[in-house]
Amino acid sequence: MAKPIYGEPMIISELIKSAAKKLQDVGIDTARLDAMLLLETALGKNRSYLVANSEAAVSENAQKQFAILLKRRINREPISQIIGKKEFYGRQFKVSKDVLTPRPETEFIIEVALKLFNKNSEINILDLGTGSGCIILTLLAEMPNAKGVGVDKSKSALAIAAKNAYDLKIENVEFVHSDWCKNLESQQKFHLIVSNPPYIPKTEQKTLDAELDFEPETALFGGDDGLDCYRLIAKEISGLKFDFAILEIGINQEGEVKKIFEQYQIKHKETLADLAGIPRVIVFNK
Ligand SMILES: C[S@@+](CC[C@H](N)C(=O)[O-])C[C@H]1O[C@@H](n2cnc3c(N)ncnc32)[C@H](O)[C@@H]1O
Repeated sequence: MAKPIYGEPMIISELIKSAAKKLQDVGIDTARLDAMLLLETALGKNRSYLVANSEAAVSENAQKQFAILLKRRINREPISQIIGKKEFYGRQFKVSKDVLTPRPETEFIIEVALKLFNKNSEINILDLGTGSGCIILTLLAEMPNAKGVGVDKSKSALAIAAKNAYDLKIENVEFVHSDWCKNLESQQKFHLIVSNPPYIPKTEQKTLDAELDFEPETALFGGDDGLDCYRLIAKEISGLKFDFAILEIGINQEGEVKKIFEQYQIKHKETLADLAGIPRVIVFNK
């Protein structure tokens, strides 16, 4: 008979093993890592504690808590939403169902920005569709003399971004509730505009990983061809003063995105591929 996950004292290593098996059985590739993250959360301890105490018995209460978290993951809720955080460019960001979980490919925007501007630059940065604030807050942490504005049309996302600013002790940032640039002063000059807009084609919705069902639709989809937000952003930023714009793009979107921005006399500077060789970040200047 299979051992119950709680009801008898189990030790840390057994709990991880049995949970990882359950996660693997439902097709989760990161089963062991996820099992450890869930147990860390249930116990309120870190990875070193789990490793150093792998033979320690886990209390019934903690096992019950762990079983609840495990069930959520088995139902394919993203691990970041269950544990409430995600690392981005070496810093922890709070996440919830109201924001897109920061993705490793988005870190590439940071790399590209830090090549264009040095760390002491006193620049103004605008982040369109800030979500958790991961892009603008990371840039401001890396460039402490810069100032930033993060825009989102979701008030609940802005509340998370503000919490992240507080946790990271970033004060030179303002969050604005706006449909893209509509609530920004048109006279404001930005040296850098960054954006990771929603770019998944709506037509692909049924083919996506189950985890994406837990993320906000407004953070994911860019209309039938995925390009609607680029069309709106290009039009709106063409009315602003800026030097560079760095945007994340989806697979096979480079050519179309280039054309959209060039219609507004925004010049293509370069496109950079990510580690998988996919054109991922596109840079324009005005
Ligand atoms: C792909 S998510 C990116 C979030 C975050 N910048 C990141 O990279 O993890 C896109 C964000 O754009 C926001 N958004 C969608 N439509 C918008 C609009 N019309 N105006 C402002 N923000 C919008 C969504 O709420 C979401 O937070």
